[in-house]
Amino acid sequence: MNQKISNSIERLNSEFTKRYGNEPEFIASAPGRVNLIGEHTDYNDGFVFPVAIDKYIHIAVQRRSDRKVQLHAVDMREECTFSLDHIDKDDTPQWAKYIKGVAHYLQELVLHDTRHVMNGLSAVITGDVPISAGLSSSAALEVASSYAFLAASGLAISNTINRNFGKIELIEIPLMKLAALCQRAENEFAGVNCGIMDQSISLLGKADHALFLDCRALDYKQVPLNLTNLQIVICNTNVKRELAASEYNKRRAECENGVQILKKWLPNITSLRDVTLDEFKKYEVELPEITQKRCRYVVEENTRVLNAVDALSKSDIETFGMLMNASHAGLRDLYEVSCDELNMLTEIAQNINGVLGSRMTGAGFGGCTVNLVRTEVVDELRTNVMREYTKQTGIKPDIYVCNVGDGARINWISQS
Ligand code: GLA
Repeated sequence: MNQKISNSIERLNSEFTKRYGNEPEFIASAPGRVNLIGEHTDYNDGFVFPVAIDKYIHIAVQRRSDRKVQLHAVDMREECTFSLDHIDKDDTPQWAKYIKGVAHYLQELVLHDTRHVMNGLSAVITGDVPISAGLSSSAALEVASSYAFLAASGLAISNTINRNFGKIELIEIPLMKLAALCQRAENEFAGVNCGIMDQSISLLGKADHALFLDCRALDYKQVPLNLTNLQIVICNTNVKRELAASEYNKRRAECENGVQILKKWLPNITSLRDVTLDEFKKYEVELPEITQKRCRYVVEENTRVLNAVDALSKSDIETFGMLMNASHAGLRDLYEVSCDELNMLTEIAQNINGVLGSRMTGAGFGGCTVNLVRTEVVDELRTNVMREYTKQTGIKPDIYVCNVGDGARINWISQS
């Protein structure tokens, strides 16, 4: 267990004890993510290349013998209580909708696949994944909840097992199936039409590896990063993503519209993933201007991900960085999901000799940039971003030099 997790666990233990009078039995922890390249490609059946970061949502849990779920969100200072016999979305704070959605679909799946009936739980939730910053705090909450409910019901999937803990039964749920379940919870209960990238990396993250995920086949490969003398640095605009939900859904619709039109010439395609750059160039004139821009970006970005993974395998990090910069240009000019603050951060970074690549990450309209930086210029990046960005916007940015960590885990506290 790393130092950061163990500090959070100590804090969470004492919160839990204050509230419920005894220690939690276990803590379910799931990381946020930063996507290195492959943005807005997941819902187009394309390729993504994210990493899990060392920022987590933690849920401290004690099992209950009844079907009640009692939740206390420390950072929100809010509570939510419900029964597993009746899960609805009404009168529910947004954060709790993610958890209710997971509980709903998980108990269907667990009952169907294992004939187990899920138990209730009492829980305290906290975390250090910034909210609405494009680092997937919601996916981390969903994934941590899924582990919490499974463990509270005496079930675990193979990587959560702790040999010293007796009464747990191992069940076989492929992690990609669990990712799809968490995605569905977000789509149906929180009303966010997201793709599958964020939940997948929160479950499948591996220290010092990025996840190359084919969002159609749901096949993946954990690719070693080998970042000698390099750091992944995240810069947070601290601009909340106001437009993200409505514009996100609009982009999805524009891509689907593009596919419908292109089908006239390419009848076998079902998504933009199926269109090659050459085919696209041949037929793009048939598309309305905006649709054309959106589709061009997606077709190009899919190719960039493949090229980036290939470059990394050859330790050609300069090419990897150039592809990150090109990805940002596409998101800014064609997909139009960037904003002034994100553009400013990437420009400041790209002007530094030794920053290999800089791009917005996540849905856009605010949130964070991800930067691939030579270790010796991390301080220069920090200083320039602090000075220039604050001068131009009046907003103080946050900067995280991040370690690439593992996916979700259960940490057992007591044996009771
Ligand atoms: C959000 C969604 C993801 C993905 C990204 C954009 O993070 O949750 O599914 O679509 O935006 O790449």
